[in-house]
Amino acid sequence: MAGSFETVGVVGLGTMGAGIAECFARAGIAVIGVEAGPEALTRGRGHLEDSTGRAVVKGRLSEAERSEILGRVTLTTSLEDLADADLVIEAVPEVMVFKRALFTDLDRICKPSAVLATNTSSLSVTEIAATTGRPGRVIGMHFFNPAPVMRLVEVIHTLITDDGLAGEVADLARRLGKTPVTVGDRAGFVVNRLLLPYLNHAAVLLENGVATRDGIDTAMRLGAGLPMGPFALLDLIGLDTSYEVLSVLFRESHDRRHAAAPILRERVAAGLLGRKSGGGFHRAAEPEPAADEPSTGLVAVLGEGGDAFAARLSAAGFKTVPVQDAETVVALSSVPVVELAPGLPHPERLVGLHLVGDQVAEVASTALTGPEVARAVEGMVRLIGLVPVPCRDRAEFVVDALLYPYLNDAVRMYDSGYATRDDIDNAMRLGCGYQAGPFETLDELGLETVRDGLRALYAEYREPFLAPAPLLEQLVAAGVRSFRDLP
Ligand code: 3HC
Repeated sequence: MAGSFETVGVVGLGTMGAGIAECFARAGIAVIGVEAGPEALTRGRGHLEDSTGRAVVKGRLSEAERSEILGRVTLTTSLEDLADADLVIEAVPEVMVFKRALFTDLDRICKPSAVLATNTSSLSVTEIAATTGRPGRVIGMHFFNPAPVMRLVEVIHTLITDDGLAGEVADLARRLGKTPVTVGDRAGFVVNRLLLPYLNHAAVLLENGVATRDGIDTAMRLGAGLPMGPFALLDLIGLDTSYEVLSVLFRESHDRRHAAAPILRERVAAGLLGRKSGGGFHRAAEPEPAADEPSTGLVAVLGEGGDAFAARLSAAGFKTVPVQDAETVVALSSVPVVELAPGLPHPERLVGLHLVGDQVAEVASTALTGPEVARAVEGMVRLIGLVPVPCRDRAEFVVDALLYPYLNDAVRMYDSGYATRDDIDNAMRLGCGYQAGPFETLDELGLETVRDGLRALYAEYREPFLAPAPLLEQLVAAGVRSFRDLP
């Protein structure tokens, strides 16, 4: 019974551990927080005080409630103080030898009925469980950063977890106001297996110069509607943690999609770990883009939707003219535009434009585009109220290049039988703050559109992971328009 978890131990009071301790304390559960030494303990107390202090400032908690919450947390440097805890959850660094050593100690110290839980992001819960003399009482309880805010808890059971324990821990998660998603023990579980490859892919695009850090962040926030861009999120999660998760995924899958981008490894090696070290990807401002070039406003618009776009430009004072008279040729397109260049009198004046949602315009330069022409188009789209994201003229540009492979991964995960569509959608919505889960997004975009985008990506890069998932191909071939139409 979940009601029997009345005292909970949390080992490791870094960002995650302190956030987890706060979740339990807020739910009225007594918490024993353990850190390795006095300095780390002081830091952990600081996290708890800061987080609850901010809530008071925002009027979400009264001072009295804050004192009650903090009063439920006892801090110690001795693991022995966990002897009577009903459940202990560890949130120490993602290194298997640390976890195994800790679980050996906890197994010795904690009462036999206690549940030992790991907040590991990706390591094998089974391997951790096997360290103990109570493998049936060991489980994964995976929170998301920031733990007090994100509503998901992944509950990970192994082949040897006691019957009923996953249900009890899921009930406990509900008691914290969270939504549990219960799955088996596979590297990355649901969220990290879908999230980290996407974040890594963003790093690959950055490394390949497809777009800038800020451009990619902006595109995914405003274009795809995500709460944070991938580099801001990597900084929040920690580049070291992200690198570790990717390494675990790669060891299990041997899939290049999980091979950490060199740009990520380099930053980790340099100690640029993200927010916790004062910066990772967002350590320094990117160089300011050169000022927009003045444009006389003689523009030709090609492509589907060109007339409506030309009308917007005219309303903003630009003059739309035939291609031969244009100083700028804008080709509205969702595919690379370079094929148009040889037919133009001035191929250096051609820029591809892909409108994403109602806020973002990806401004694609071909190998021939003049930099001043691209800047003129950036200025032009800004004048009509869009945010320009400069990028290279590559398959699916930025947003779709990152979004479609993530959706493809979700289809593969569902098809493998690891998790249900609802669980996957809930996990991504509640764990990452997405407005919609991947299956909801697939339905909205259209299965055929996503399948075609993946085919284009595969044709360009020849990476096997970009090939549409067999299930997606089959559904499109069968004329299925929505995952909702499936049983
Ligand atoms: N601790 C406690 N509370 C916090 C917080 C923190 N670190 N950061 C933000 N909050 C609270 C704020 O106090 C605020 O609360 P209120 O609504 O009661 O006033 C609320 O969260 C919203 O915060 P802000 O208004 O300051 O900021 P945003 O609206 O921009 O939201 C965000 C911030 C919640 C972080 C949002 O950007 C988001 O959802 N980002 C996605 C985060 C994500 O994907 N997390 C999962 C990462 S993967 C992971 O953790 C797994 C691991 O294994 C790698």
